Amino acid sequence: MSQVAIKDALSGRIEAGTTVTIKGWVRTRRDSKAGLSFVNVSDGSCFDPIQVVAPAELANYDSEVRHLTSGCSVSATGTLVPSQGKGQAFELQAAAIEVLGWVDDPETYPIQPKPHSMEFLREVAHLRVRTNTFGAVTRIRHCIAQAIHRFFSERGFYWVNTPIITTSDAEGAGQMFRVSTLDLANLPRDEKGRIDFREDFFGREAFLTVSGQLNVEAYCLAMSKVYTFGPTFRAENSNTTRHLAEFWMVEPEIAFADLDDDANLAEAFLKYIFKAVLDERGDDMAFFADKIEKTAIRRLESFIASPFERIDYTDAVDILAKAPRKFDFPVAWGADLQTEHERYLTEEHVGRPVVVTNYPEHIKSFYMRLNEDGRTVAAMDVLAPGIGEIIGGSQREERLDVLDARMKQFGLDASHYEWYRDLRRYGTVPHAGFGLGFERLVVYICGLGNIRDAIPYPRAPGSAEF
Ligand code: 4AD
Repeated sequence: MSQVAIKDALSGRIEAGTTVTIKGWVRTRRDSKAGLSFVNVSDGSCFDPIQVVAPAELANYDSEVRHLTSGCSVSATGTLVPSQGKGQAFELQAAAIEVLGWVDDPETYPIQPKPHSMEFLREVAHLRVRTNTFGAVTRIRHCIAQAIHRFFSERGFYWVNTPIITTSDAEGAGQMFRVSTLDLANLPRDEKGRIDFREDFFGREAFLTVSGQLNVEAYCLAMSKVYTFGPTFRAENSNTTRHLAEFWMVEPEIAFADLDDDANLAEAFLKYIFKAVLDERGDDMAFFADKIEKTAIRRLESFIASPFERIDYTDAVDILAKAPRKFDFPVAWGADLQTEHERYLTEEHVGRPVVVTNYPEHIKSFYMRLNEDGRTVAAMDVLAPGIGEIIGGSQREERLDVLDARMKQFGLDASHYEWYRDLRRYGTVPHAGFGLGFERLVVYICGLGNIRDAIPYPRAPGSAEF
């Protein structure tokens, strides 16, 4: 047999005694007094490295094998044998080890075989994936992304690629990064300080998208069930452990559907993803439960087993007002719920995931459907124990006159949303959708303390290296 992934070499599916080649990067090397060395090699295919046993008889044993350090790349060929050590079924008895790449200065190689702080690892984002933690995060991210596509595809949703560059502010919150080829500093401005963007690349002011929702709504109103899943950008100056300037978002949109259908979809979706992670990435989840967040596995299992509770925003405010404890932020009808309120509701009040519905209209986005009471919109936030809000969604305003009034109320220029208004003019139907921040989900699943560790190359205020 020729080259195999380390996950296959360790799986027990290859018969003991088979000759294989593995290729990867050295994690550790230990020399025994008996005149042989144990070299742990990882190739990223699974959590565990493989132990390569290198006997002194190897032609390059003294000249090379005994000089291997963390980070060197090697190719090792030998026989798979049952391991004597505990915790691993197989090891490789090497007949040949070829060094593919040396580490030129082992003393200064940043990823030493010892614990490193997450802060330090953020400074070497291009190398941190060589650690246990970031290898595991990378595999879990992949697993979640695949499960997302599978979930929607199995239910008849089409994946729609919405644009990254856009001219409309999907959230109406003015947190967009401008895309321009003009030398903005030296351009003439009118008496109100405005620049004429007609000379710009797109013939008007353009930005990086904050959400694919408006575009995916258009596709929903022809394809019935769709979702967009891609990068989104927010220029909010939030230097927190929960905010990124560039993050991925999953946004499904369903036609002929109301807020109830939306909440049902969100519940089925989250449970499907969590189950996929537990089924497929037991090795990485066991590591997170051991080293990062001891409830990591238990809380996903209990999430899967719990029916979501639905609470109307107005009732939630009552519950919070009567709570037997003080909050840092006062609770009052009309104010948005803070993380401490959300966590109280989900962790202490009900003890399982909660969907809060029907928020005051003035604290939510212009596209959310105005309820009959005229004071609330058909919006929902899904709250999860241990984190608070994880999904935000709504039924969309499908009535053109109400949408126009809402855009006016929010100070939005209807001329920027003509195509979006068309959707209400040509065969409008009730429809609903939600958005899930992909990295917030990764943080929750892995039990990470900071969202900057949930994406390979985090972008945040003052931080765009690598
Ligand atoms: O609540 P948001 O702003 O909703 C929307 O963008 C809607 N268009 C979604 C929809 O209905 N289709 O953002 C959705 C989710 C939030 O729940 C949060 O998880 C995540 O996106 N999110 C962020 N994640 C990381 N960094 C940030 N700066 C984020 N801002 C929002």
